[in-house]
Amino acid sequence: MSKKITSGPSPISDEDRKDAHLRICLEEPIERLGVTTGFERYRFEHDALPELDRSDIDLTTTVFGKTLRAPIMIGAMTGGTPWAGEINRTLAKAAQHCGVAMALGSQRKMLERPEVGATFAVRDVAPDLLLMGNVGAVQLNYGVGRAEVEALISGVGCDMFAFHINALQEAIQPEGDTNFAGVIGKLEEIIPDIPVPVVLKEVGSGFSRKTLNKIAHIPFAGLETAGVGGTSWSKIETYRTDSWIQQMTGRRLGDWGVPTSESLQAAVDIVGHDKTVICSGGIRTGLQMAKALAMGADLVASALPFLKAAHEGGYDAVVMTIEQFIDELRTICFITGSKDVSDLRKQTLMEIAQ
Ligand SMILES: Cc1cc2nc3c(=O)[nH]c(=O)nc-3n(C[C@H](O)[C@H](O)[C@H](O)COP(=O)(O)O)c2cc1C
Repeated sequence: MSKKITSGPSPISDEDRKDAHLRICLEEPIERLGVTTGFERYRFEHDALPELDRSDIDLTTTVFGKTLRAPIMIGAMTGGTPWAGEINRTLAKAAQHCGVAMALGSQRKMLERPEVGATFAVRDVAPDLLLMGNVGAVQLNYGVGRAEVEALISGVGCDMFAFHINALQEAIQPEGDTNFAGVIGKLEEIIPDIPVPVVLKEVGSGFSRKTLNKIAHIPFAGLETAGVGGTSWSKIETYRTDSWIQQMTGRRLGDWGVPTSESLQAAVDIVGHDKTVICSGGIRTGLQMAKALAMGADLVASALPFLKAAHEGGYDAVVMTIEQFIDELRTICFITGSKDVSDLRKQTLMEIAQ
């Protein structure tokens, strides 16, 4: 567990990075301004006479072997500092209580400093939670291999494990690891040996058809779109770098990427037949969640709104945020005549004429 990671010296200590991300996300305008998820271009057909009792609607969904009360996940965010640890435990307790899934933030720091493992440990408060672990795919080029990934998985007891893919973020990050050469081959090699299902996820710039076609042959189990429309990592990193040049690049590319609805449609077409598709990136309402499910997503994740809820109102606010998403989703099932999630996924979305 104590293998030295060879990413070179960093101008800003790793200790501070996750707290800086939390602070910037809470204080600065880091959401996309000029682009949206694209979901607003679609609408459901309203069913004025659904012939259903709303209270009979069943939102339960089974993914990665566990049954959730609703197809919702708290997206990957944090870990590694006392503040991050407190947030993870608040999110995990709420997710366990509400019966939804949760992802941990990058566990890379657990490899460099095993003592921070406690800030990712949530199993004591959330024994049944569908939990996803996380590390950057580019770390496969910086000393992380099978043994390290297995240690990260057993260290937190996660049910599935995500490799996040964040080339744009690393390019703007002051201490960014930007050697992405050969990462696809390394993923191809390592994934069959990983003891839990592997998810490949972006961090807010989305997967294009071009990227999906390059990775479709890899035996990963799931893909998380994390498309454009919400949190922008290009913007976040401009607040951490002292380099004026990186700041300008980050700002100019703040809206770069594939809108979430477009990335989702590409993922469903290219890998959806045999892989679990998680839709994320700018998901802020139950209506967006419902549209994502109708477009073919198996699970929908949101990150920033849960951080804000945890920060502003703790456990109760996170529970309320989850329950609001669930209530909205249930009402949309009702007014589209969908008795369950599988019915909702069969609803046709109509493109609104622009
Ligand atoms: C504070 C914060 C920290 C994040 N850290 C990670 C991370 O460590 N690993 C990861 O894969 N994604 C990370 N993300 C990205 C989210 O999982 C998600 O893909 C992205 O924020 C887009 O979703 P959103 O618009 O709902 O926030 C983080 C997001 C936030 C807001």
